Amino acid sequence: MLDDLKPQVTDKIVMLMQMFRDDPRRDKVDLGVGVYKDASGNTPVMRAVKAAEQKLWQTETTKTYTALAGDPAFADAMRRLVLGDAVPAGRVAAAATPGGTGAVRQALEMIHNTTPAAKVWISTPTWPNHPSIISYVGIALGHYRYFDAESGSLDFAGMMADLDGVSPGDVVLLHGCCHNPTGANLTLPDWRAVTDLLAAKGAIPLIDIAYQGFGDGLQDDAAGLRHVAATLPEVLIAASCSKNFGIYRERTGVVMALAPDSATRDLAQGTLAFLNRQNYSFPPDHGARLVTMILNDPALRADWQAELEEMRLTMRDNRKALADALRAETGSDRFGFLASHRGMFSLIGASKAEVRRIREDFGVYLIGDGRMNVAGLTRENIPQVARAIAACCKG
Ligand code: LMR
Repeated sequence: MLDDLKPQVTDKIVMLMQMFRDDPRRDKVDLGVGVYKDASGNTPVMRAVKAAEQKLWQTETTKTYTALAGDPAFADAMRRLVLGDAVPAGRVAAAATPGGTGAVRQALEMIHNTTPAAKVWISTPTWPNHPSIISYVGIALGHYRYFDAESGSLDFAGMMADLDGVSPGDVVLLHGCCHNPTGANLTLPDWRAVTDLLAAKGAIPLIDIAYQGFGDGLQDDAAGLRHVAATLPEVLIAASCSKNFGIYRERTGVVMALAPDSATRDLAQGTLAFLNRQNYSFPPDHGARLVTMILNDPALRADWQAELEEMRLTMRDNRKALADALRAETGSDRFGFLASHRGMFSLIGASKAEVRRIREDFGVYLIGDGRMNVAGLTRENIPQVARAIAACCKG
């Protein structure tokens, strides 16, 4: 049997992580996988997470199973973080999942189980694992334009024109904030227009929010999602705690299904618990428990928010510093869009061959589509990165 297996293509982000680890050059720069790095290039454990872990170690008396949907207190804390008071709690079914990816997967399985003929529409480009999981689950893909590579900005007219083709019951996958990989985001009026279009079409949004707090702040980053949630009868949400709590390897996320009434909400809650049971039984609890402790303890929460804000401002400053350095290197404002993008990523508009040269000749690692993790920039490496891009991307 095993010799009949087909070789699998490794995800390009995961492949680049390994290439970077294997590169012996001392001055190599990792702008690949989406993990936050501080000014010294480290990915720290956040202060509030450390404090919560210490408290948990002292107070935890059992590690027996939680519930199939995870600890309800986690779901409730995440509902409030993501949705604020946009919708009544009674509309929201929620289950803990292994990371945001687990939440995406569970949402897609729910879609496939109930409406196997539905298409899921994704932005061009998007995070490569989106189309990969959608196809793996057996769902048909639709594509909508999203990004104008020429100007480095959102192609909103193209997006709306393509979404005009969605059918009733189709699902439109949207990035809640900090679009991965482009860094170009919908404004609130854009969100309103997309919401109206989805309402008119009878389509359902699936919102993947993995970077809340990394763009314009915790509240602003959720504003579009909250408008959608408050307006449409059915909304699916996949939220990750990997980035904004810095607990990547703890695999902490939540899938939410917003229903129009309590009977449908109960049906969705039962389905999410069932899907957890089928896939991994009980979801991981350690990260979820830390997040719950932090969100529900005023002092821990204040410290978490303060550190998250420091991280957000570091990424914003990195963007500006690189845009300035590239202006000086190239004598043009070609890369000015870097400063106006938000979140961890930007597509810099480099071809595959240019990305390879940037890596091979300058030791600067970008994802093959030209995605840069701006959190990997530091005061020390920005001149090297700017030189590499200016030398290799002749436009
Ligand atoms: C990324 O986009 O780099 C992160 O979300 C990590 C991953 O799993 O791909």
